Amino acid sequence: MPAIAIIGAQWGDEGKGKATDLLGSSVDYVVKFNGGNNAGHTVVIPQPDGSTEKFALHLLPSGILTPGCTPVIGNGVVVDLGVLFEEIEGLEARGIDTSDLKLSANAHVIASYNRELDKVTERFLGARRIGTTGRGIGPTYADKMNRIGIRVQDLFDESILRGKVEGALELKNQILTKVYNRRGFTVDAIVEELLSYAERVRPYVCDTALLLHEALLAEKTVLLEAGQATLLDVDHGTYPFVTSSSATAGGASTGSGIAPARLTQIVGIVKAYTTRVGEGPFPTELDGGPEDPAGHGEFLRKQGHEYGTTTGRPRRCGWYDSVVARYAARVNGVTDFVLTKLDVLTGLEQVPICVAYDVDGVRHDEMPVSQSDFHHATPVYEYLPGWWEDISGARTFEELPAAARAYVERCEELSGSRISVIGVGPGRHETVVRHPLI
Ligand code: GDP
Ligand code: IMO
Ligand code: MG
Repeated sequence: MPAIAIIGAQWGDEGKGKATDLLGSSVDYVVKFNGGNNAGHTVVIPQPDGSTEKFALHLLPSGILTPGCTPVIGNGVVVDLGVLFEEIEGLEARGIDTSDLKLSANAHVIASYNRELDKVTERFLGARRIGTTGRGIGPTYADKMNRIGIRVQDLFDESILRGKVEGALELKNQILTKVYNRRGFTVDAIVEELLSYAERVRPYVCDTALLLHEALLAEKTVLLEAGQATLLDVDHGTYPFVTSSSATAGGASTGSGIAPARLTQIVGIVKAYTTRVGEGPFPTELDGGPEDPAGHGEFLRKQGHEYGTTTGRPRRCGWYDSVVARYAARVNGVTDFVLTKLDVLTGLEQVPICVAYDVDGVRHDEMPVSQSDFHHATPVYEYLPGWWEDISGARTFEELPAAARAYVERCEELSGSRISVIGVGPGRHETVVRHPLI
């Protein structure tokens, strides 16, 4: 009864989608347990004619692409119903069967007023903005915590739904009109919008926690796929520059209803360098300024195609940060790392690894507890020799050039858990397996 969680070890976009797809054929259920359509997971699938097909998933778990694997949206997710059906229709049009999808009755629903509030709050914050995806994620989780949220099950009882929308709008309309000088929403319009999805969504809705419990009792394999990542986790991330959900291993349990002790393996996905979208501290960032005279930030962005899957924003890029990786290993209990995008580092004279931080003259080997210290942290680098060979064809560790192997081994020594799989390209097959994950 393995229950394996896939967790982002940095600030997102590490390649969780590819890792999920890689394991897809060995698992029976793939569960999304946190976040919503702020996520963007790209999966590149080889076709029988030798070409590849690319899929970008936001709300549906990446496992939906694997025939025979049941995709589940857990209670910890916030669901934009419009996006859900757009994504379902888009996949069906490409020949993917989505009829097996299961959706938790307890998942919260993103209402139009929360999308609007996300955008206007960001504008209002100005220089203090978070750089959110503008999808209504934060306000919807805030409603959940404030106990004024709308859940999927509320769609099936109109009078309950109306009462809840009335309660929420009493507050929201005051804020929208009086603080932000925007137009409010009518109860009728919101109720009508949400009810319009009720009958379409009904066949998917069930008690997903019970379903997964029974699956584990029946010795099925369950994969829990995180959105976002450790440093974006609302508790363990670089608060307030975080998302509003629990993206770490603990969230895999609360967001799915699978008891913590049932999680058997925690796979941390970590890029061979680092990226971040949105605002917030990022010690190893290469911003093209005087401290990046060689333009390595732009090199990584170009080589790695580092543009957001969800918003298209250019991702901020920097070197591998082993302090962050060690922190992720600790907070999540990472049993195995998947090191992705090693191929992107090909062609560098030297490859720096951040081994610690210097904070106002003091060395920190662990993440500083104070956010102000983290903002001041400058990386202490170790420089490893680079390699020039094309590594995308490597399928075993021995096939990698010696310098690339030495880089991986040093990352492993510094990062607190073994590196079991290495990504050498976006395709499913462009992978080096050192220790099989399942
Ligand atoms: P996720 O949000 O963690 O699923 O990651 P994204 O899909 O947002 O971003 C990762 C990007 O890197 C995608 O475009 C993937 O196709 C791509 N990718 C994943 N693994 C590798 C790899 O090993 N090498 C290369 N070159 N690209 C990869
Ligand atoms: P995946 O699953 C990278 C970032 C946003 C912003 C912050 C808060 O593809 O790794 P939100 O809209 O969630 O309130 O925004 O979190 N963010 C992500 N960055 N990858 C993601 O998802 C992200 N989801 C949210 O850019 O800084
Ligand atoms: Mg992504």
